[in-house]
Amino acid sequence: MKKLVVFNWKMNPASRREAEELFAATERESKKVKGVDVAVCPPYVYLPCAPSAGSHFTLGAQDIFWEPHGAFTGEISASMLVSMHAEYVIVGHSERRKFLGETDSMIQKKMQAAVNANIVPIFCVGETGEVRKQGIEAAKEFVGGELEEGLLGYERRVAELVIAYEPIWAIGNGKADKPRESAEMVEFIKKFMKKHVGFSPRVLYGGSVDGKNAAGFLSEEAIDGALVGGASLHPADIKKIINFK
Ligand code: PGA
Repeated sequence: MKKLVVFNWKMNPASRREAEELFAATERESKKVKGVDVAVCPPYVYLPCAPSAGSHFTLGAQDIFWEPHGAFTGEISASMLVSMHAEYVIVGHSERRKFLGETDSMIQKKMQAAVNANIVPIFCVGETGEVRKQGIEAAKEFVGGELEEGLLGYERRVAELVIAYEPIWAIGNGKADKPRESAEMVEFIKKFMKKHVGFSPRVLYGGSVDGKNAAGFLSEEAIDGALVGGASLHPADIKKIINFK
């Protein structure tokens, strides 16, 4: 299976013009690469600025709301995302858990809303620095708990689900995990999923991936791709990451 690189712009860039430039740069690089699937998750407002049909990357969103429509000020539904051509949606990112108070039960409902709409959820899990200090086995237990909670009641109606292993202590600070250790966690996640949900999805690594370290992660057989935050804003990194081979 091809590796999947998902660029998560988070709350960037600051203007529509810059978003259009970034889409153009990502398109330019994606067009030249064959063996890698590329997806871009911009802020909602920039979804319509993406190059139209025929582009070489897939669009995704950074969040979703679970209700289909109605009086939910500020929220965005699954059908809205579908109508803007989003095929992926990030669910349960640690920044949303931390800054927006997202809980496991909210995440469960978001997972279900995505699945019902045929949008592929990119479900984020990852332990805190404190847990990791206790060792990789403690981290596995923590991540197993998150998988259990987030997927509670999850009905598998689509063939595709993506899980992003994002150790919280490695996000946005240049201190990426070691490729071998994240590969060990990815293997654990795959086994866990096989046992509890009946299949092993694609599992990505995320946390300070950039042009310099991407090859280390993407060359690990178990790691199916990367969820990239900060480096998605820099064309030179985009190029290096998707040309990791
Ligand atoms: P980062 O973010 O690459 O800036 O660490 C990754 C993520 O949070 O998706």
